[in-house]
Amino acid sequence: MEPSRILITGATGYIGRRLKNRLLDKQDYRLRLFVRNARKVSERVRQSVEIVEGDTFHMDTLATALENIDVAFYLIHSMGDDQDFKSLDRISAENFRDACIAAGVKKIVYLGGLGVKETASKHLLSRIETGEILSGRPDDIITIWFRAGVIIGSGSASFEMIRNLAQKLPVMVAPKWVNTKTQPIAVDDVLAYLEEAVSLENTGNVIVDIGADIMSFREMMIAAGRAMGLKRFIIPVPVLSPRLSSYWLVFITTVPFKVAAALVEGLKSETVQQNDNAALLFPTIKPMSFIQSVKHAIDEIERDQVISRWCDSSAGEACDVIYQDDPSSAIIRDRRVVGFGKTPIAKVYQSILSIGGEKGWYSYHFLWRIRGAMDKLVGGYGLGRGRRNPRELRVGDALDFWKVADLRENKRVLLVAQMKLPGKAWLEFSIEDDRLIQTAHYYPNGLWGRLYWYATNPFHNLVFQDLAEKIVEHAKQTG
Ligand SMILES: NC(=O)c1ccc[n+]([C@@H]2O[C@H](COP(=O)([O-])OP(=O)(O)OC[C@H]3O[C@@H](n4cnc5c(N)ncnc54)[C@H](OP(=O)(O)O)[C@@H]3O)[C@@H](O)[C@H]2O)c1
Repeated sequence: MEPSRILITGATGYIGRRLKNRLLDKQDYRLRLFVRNARKVSERVRQSVEIVEGDTFHMDTLATALENIDVAFYLIHSMGDDQDFKSLDRISAENFRDACIAAGVKKIVYLGGLGVKETASKHLLSRIETGEILSGRPDDIITIWFRAGVIIGSGSASFEMIRNLAQKLPVMVAPKWVNTKTQPIAVDDVLAYLEEAVSLENTGNVIVDIGADIMSFREMMIAAGRAMGLKRFIIPVPVLSPRLSSYWLVFITTVPFKVAAALVEGLKSETVQQNDNAALLFPTIKPMSFIQSVKHAIDEIERDQVISRWCDSSAGEACDVIYQDDPSSAIIRDRRVVGFGKTPIAKVYQSILSIGGEKGWYSYHFLWRIRGAMDKLVGGYGLGRGRRNPRELRVGDALDFWKVADLRENKRVLLVAQMKLPGKAWLEFSIEDDRLIQTAHYYPNGLWGRLYWYATNPFHNLVFQDLAEKIVEHAKQTG
C-alpha cells in the first residue's frame, strides 16, 4: 500500500513536535512539516523530512505545503491575551480549511479542547470556533476533531504546575475551582489517537472526546503527590479569586502570569467527555491512568528526555525568533574577550551550551535570581522556564528568561532576551580562533531604556566578565 502523505502543522509546538517524532521513521507515512522557522527543527529532522516554511496567513505557503497531501494535522493556536487572538485563530482556520479543499486533501485532523460553549473560557471558545470552522464544509472535506482536557506529559504547562505544587506544598489552601471535574489524558495517548485518525475510514465529520479518569484538580494534585511518594493535603477555601489564584501560582510554580491565568480560567468550568466516540472508533486505545501518566512524565524529566515544552512555541502572531538572529540594530554593547589557549573549541562550545537552568549562570547566582524575581513580579517569565535539557539547546528553546535565536556549532550561540525590559537585548557568544567573545547587545527604548542600562551597568560589570571567564574555566576543567 502507498504510504499516506501527511502534513503536520504546528510541528515546533508541544503536540506537533511529539507527533512528528512519533511518525518520523514509520514506513506507513510520508511526512511533510509546515513551520514558521525551519531552524527550530533539528538538523537531523531537516535532512529526513520535507519542510515548508510559511504561516497560515499566507495562502501561497499553505498551497505549497498542502500539495499532494492526504491527511493534514491542524495543531496551531495562538495563546494571545488580547482580543486579536480570536480573529487571528478564525482567519487561520478558514485559510487552512480552504487551502486543504483547494489542494484536494482528504482529511483534516484537529486537536482542540474539552468543554462546552456555555461555560468555556475565551481560549477554549476560540478552540471550539476553530473546530467548527474546520468542519464547516463537510461535503468538501472530512474533519476528525479531537477534544482533550488537561494533557499530562513532561513539559506541558498543566503538568509543570501540578508537579510544582505537589512537590513544594505539603498542605495547600486552594481556591474552589480545585473541585471542578476534569478528565486528564497522557500525551502519549493523545498521540496514539492522532496517529490512528490517519487510517480511520468510513466516517464523515466526527468529534472525538478523549480522556482517562474523571477527577478534580484537587484529586490530581493528591495523586501526583502520591506518584512522587509524597502525602499532600488540600483545603479548598471560597475566598481566592481567579486573579489571586493566578498570582499565587506564579509565586509557587514555574509558569508566568499569562499562562497561569489561562490555566485557572480553563479550570473554572468542567471539562469532561461529552461523547464516547473514542471507545467506539478507537477501541484498541486504552488511555493510561493519571498516576501512570504522571510517573511516565517524571521518568522522562529524570532521563532528560523531554521532547517538547509549553514554552517551545512563540504563543503569538509571529514566530518569536525568526528575525532575531541579527543584533546589529543594537546601539549599546558590552564586549568581553577571554582566551582559552589549547582547550578544544568543542569543549568551550559545550560549556556555553550548558549555561542557565538548574545549574545557574556559573557565578553570581543571587544576582541572576534577583533579576529573575523582578521579571516575574512584573509578569515576565523570570527564571522559571529553566531549560528543556541540561546539555543540549536547539533554536527556539527557552533558557530562563532568554530564547535561543541562533546556534552555529563550535562558532556561535545567540540568545534573545524575553525578560521585561525597556528595549531589546541579546547575549551573543562567539568563538574565534582561541578566544571566546561574549557580547551583550542592547537597543534601548528612549530615555527610560538608556536609564535602565546605566542603572544596571555596575551589575553587568560584575556578571558579564565573570560569566565569560567561568565558561572558559568550566571548559578547561572538562577538557
Ligand atoms: N498542550 C495542551 O495541553 C493542549 C491541551 C488540549 C488541547 N490542545 C490543543 O492542541 C493543539 C496544539 O497545542 P500545543 O500545545 O501543541 O500548541 P503550542 O505548543 O502553542 O504550538 C503551537 C504551534 O503552532 C504554530 N503556529 C502558531 N501560529 C501559526 C501560524 N499562523 N502559522 C503556522 N504555524 C503557527 C507555532 O509555531 P512557532 O513555533 O513558530 O510559534 C507552534 O508550532 C491546539 O489546538 C490546542 O488547543 C493542547
